[in-house]
Parts: sequence; C-alpha cells; structure tokens
Amino acid sequence: MSGRRPFIAGNWKENPDTLEAAIDLAKVVSTASSSASNVDVAVVVPFPFLVPVKETLKGSNVLIGAQDLYTEDKGAYTGATSLPMIKSVGAQWVLCGHSERRALFGDTDETVNAKLKKVLAAGLKAILCIGETKDEYELGVNKLICGLQLAKGLKGVTKEQMENVAIAYEPVWAIGTGLTATPEIAQDVHSNIRAILGEAYGQAVADKVVIQYGGSVTPETVDELMAMPDIDGALVGGASLVGEKFARIINFK
Ligand code: G3P
Repeated sequence: MSGRRPFIAGNWKENPDTLEAAIDLAKVVSTASSSASNVDVAVVVPFPFLVPVKETLKGSNVLIGAQDLYTEDKGAYTGATSLPMIKSVGAQWVLCGHSERRALFGDTDETVNAKLKKVLAAGLKAILCIGETKDEYELGVNKLICGLQLAKGLKGVTKEQMENVAIAYEPVWAIGTGLTATPEIAQDVHSNIRAILGEAYGQAVADKVVIQYGGSVTPETVDELMAMPDIDGALVGGASLVGEKFARIINFK
C-alpha cells in the first residue's frame, strides 16, 4: 500500500434475504467502522435495502453503493433501476462489470463501459470489476484479459473522471471458491493494471487509482494482501455477510 487511502467494500450480492437481517448486518458494520479510521468502507447492497441501510449507517463513515444500473434513465423498462434513482437515494458508489453480471446477465464490455460512463457523468463513483476465468488463468493470459477489459471498460473515460474510478481485480476462479490468489499473483496483476493505467492516463493519475482485490478475501488472508504495494483494498463477497469477519477485514493490520 502506498500513499493511497485503502478502500474496502462489502458486496452483499443477492443477500441477505430479509430487510431485518440487512439492518442487523449494517449495524455491525457501522460499529466496526468506528475503529477503522484509515480506510474507506462501503457496503454494496441490493436495491431494496439501499434506503434502510443508508438510514442505519447514518452517523458512521460507511459509504453505500449499488450493484448495477440500467443505462436508460426512465421509461418502459420493467424490472430496471436507473442511475437517477440510485443517485436520488444517496448511493455514492456503483459496481460496474462484476463477473456475475457478465456471466449471468449478459453484460458485455460495451454495456459495462456505458454503465460506467453513466455513473461518472452523474458525479457518482464507480468500481470497475475485471478478471479472468480459470481457463484463461491456466492459459497464462490473465494480464492480457484484464488489460482488454480495462481498455474497453474505460473507453472514453477522461483523466479527470479517473478520480472517481476504482478498479477491482477479481479473478473469477477465486470468487466464492475459497481459493484466494496469492498476494504475489494479485500484486503482479495489480502492478500490471497500474502500468496500463499509466500508459493511458499518465503515471500521476495511475498512482492515485485505488485497485481492490476481490476473490475469497477473509480475515485470514486480508493482512498479507493489503501488505502488497499495489493492493489498495478489497471487494469482499461471502465474508462481508458475516459481521465479525467483515469487521476484522476492515480493521486489517
Ligand atoms: O465482489 C466480490 C466478490 O465477487 C468476491 O466474492 O465471496 O469470493 O469474497 P467472495
């Protein structure tokens, strides 16, 4: 970790299954965040929980994010949630390009790019998720795949807008599998991501971009990961649903 301020976000995905449980979890995060002063903390929650969880987090420094958006602002799009709606309920962050959206809901690099630009144009912040599959990892093309996803995802994004972008490197083979990329593997990809950002935007911009690692981050793995120079935070799935685990993660050493 360099001069960048660490940023750890819990991606709740399609969890928990009741509002009551969501509020209970948010209360634990709120309390745990009071001892985690040198890190930005966010929870990225399902749409129905945005308002009540934000209310629960009032008075804490915990930020709140949405997991997706639809690119049309309003209209006859049953089931869709627009960026203006997300903004109006006070979300600060929006995930773009999570591998589950890409694999299960048909998000392409082009739609990810359109979503990301929408978020930035509205003055919100975006976490752009990238990462290779197991096959791609085994073929040794992980950096190539990440480079392509990065270039396509950030197409048309300006230097100035990069202040509102974080990148999450989430190797698909490490998501929900208990297989964490070793700190060395993750560092290698992260430094490559920063080098690509440097070529595109200049080193000064690249040096400021927060690059999170995501993929089975736990209390057991977080300290070693965060000790790496280009790992600036974590995007946490499963462990963010267990209050005491997420509390330990945001209080990494
Ligand atoms: O976005 C977080 C993520 O995909 C990692 O999930 O459960 O492996 O921590 P998990």
